Amino acid sequence: MASSSVTHDTRTCRCGQGATSIEDRVNEILASFQGRKEELIPVLQQVQQTFGYLPQPAMKSIARFLGLPESTVFGVGTFYVQFKLLPTGRNVIRVCRGTACHVRGSAHILGHLERQLGISAGQTTPDLEYSLETIACFGSCALAPVVVSNEKVYGRMTGARAAEILDKEARR
Ligand code: FES
Repeated sequence: MASSSVTHDTRTCRCGQGATSIEDRVNEILASFQGRKEELIPVLQQVQQTFGYLPQPAMKSIARFLGLPESTVFGVGTFYVQFKLLPTGRNVIRVCRGTACHVRGSAHILGHLERQLGISAGQTTPDLEYSLETIACFGSCALAPVVVSNEKVYGRMTGARAAEILDKEARR
């Protein structure tokens, strides 16, 4: 398969390949698969793991490799929440919006984080340091309100503590 000159954003990519083109790296991944249609999800998972999201050129390469319409590959990539079509920040902050957390002030905490980061829920800062997301319920309602930062759970959150978390993550 011919390699294009599309280079990836080395600020976001987690593949550790510097300026190697997305297609070169994707071709390396595809070489470990047989090209069967039922491999679509494992291939997408591998690409997501490598880049941290599903770059558009990668989706096209996958479609060609598996003999599937691009619309099918994009459809699966957008259907499952495990897949992301845009790069996420180095730090992913999730605010629980479930009932218990809502009752105990999660909207206030979310607003605090939105103001501090200058983005809304569902967005990533321009420097790709932070992504701010909401979740329905993290299953730790006794600790409400809950914020999850890079998979670490923080309970009984306040706006001030949320600011401390951002500060701590910035120094990682
Ligand atoms: S409602 Fe937030 S953890 Fe359950």
